[in-house]
Amino acid sequence: RVAELAPHGRQMAPYACQRRTPLLHSNQPLTEALETLAEEAGFSGSEGRSLAFTRAASVLKALPGRLGALEELGSLPGIGEHSRRVIQDVLEDGVCTEVERVKLSERYRTMKLFTKIFGVGVRTASRWYQEGLRTLLDLQERNTKLTRQQQAGLRHYGDLNTPVERSEAESTSRAVQEAVKRFLPGASVTLAGGFRRGKPRGHDVDLLLTHPEEGREVGLLSRVVSWLDSQGLILYQHSQENSYGLREGPEPLGGRDVMDRFERCFSIFRLEVQGGPGAARGWKAVRVDLVVAPVSQFPFALLGWTGSRHFERELRRFASRERKMVLNSHALYDTRQNLFLPAASEEEIFQHLGLEYVPPAQRNA
Ligand code: GTP
Ligand code: MN
Ligand code: MN
Repeated sequence: RVAELAPHGRQMAPYACQRRTPLLHSNQPLTEALETLAEEAGFSGSEGRSLAFTRAASVLKALPGRLGALEELGSLPGIGEHSRRVIQDVLEDGVCTEVERVKLSERYRTMKLFTKIFGVGVRTASRWYQEGLRTLLDLQERNTKLTRQQQAGLRHYGDLNTPVERSEAESTSRAVQEAVKRFLPGASVTLAGGFRRGKPRGHDVDLLLTHPEEGREVGLLSRVVSWLDSQGLILYQHSQENSYGLREGPEPLGGRDVMDRFERCFSIFRLEVQGGPGAARGWKAVRVDLVVAPVSQFPFALLGWTGSRHFERELRRFASRERKMVLNSHALYDTRQNLFLPAASEEEIFQHLGLEYVPPAQRNA
């Protein structure tokens, strides 16, 4: 594969996992426009188109400086005709008409409103839209059938769509740590997701639990959740058992979602707060994902749960296309040698893949 030389005098590698993508970059208006179109394409079920816009945005995020003119794009990888047009519009007019039209469209706005409900995906939102539903009030008044998860999502809609601050993520982590210590001293709680990548705020708190002795982590999560619940810290939770067995052989875990099979809990915490939007009440609802990984799988889980979503997707694509390996949040499997490649750290996983190590703060692809 020929590495192409961008006019910035830098090589831009084709896969996002071969690049460093910091949280802050110089092309915000461009990436925002492209990501709006990516989102809209996702809402219409055009995954391929959505991915193309996401790829283009991701390339711009990795540029070392502000893009001043279209020509500077040169032969950057992953920027198609349509994205080029969008970039040109924003560079010339400050806005792209197509993007502005999308943002104002009833469908986009409604889809956004509905998919922001915890437990509502594109398919459900799309069905509701087709049924003529437009507002959260519509959902209630027309007695729309809601799952327990969606009911909780609707009940806490305001809070759950108020960003979680880093300090809130840290106090959530501490609360879980205390509970963990009661039942399994020596077990660890690691903050993953966007916060690990250095984001100052996020939409939820992703916590990874493990214990240095393989197997000791079994049964921990249900005890921790029950205890937190008894302390009044949990507003909603649903748990899922571990269903992963390495002996079954490599599992591509394909499909649209890269769901893994760890024991996990999707929850809403009742977090005590001093300031901010929940201050008058003294508490705020916060989405928390708890995931338990056996220590032998921990580096894979950590890598998989640190994100960004696009970085993960690119890692897996790189592994399979360039290395004939299957990577997921549990393991790395080499299909040429027919063996699992164990790792004690994220660094080792990058090594197995023949990739330069990318620290979490540079995975904001
Ligand atoms: P914000 O929460 O919006 O701030 O960003 P985030 O990057 O933390 O996103 P999110 O919490 O949705 O996901 C964090 C990481 O966990 C991402 O890389 C996801 O790909 C990954 N992730 C989320 N859900 C799953 C899952 O079910 N299985 C696996 N393997 N990974 C997941
Ligand atoms: Mn997150
Ligand atoms: Mn999450």
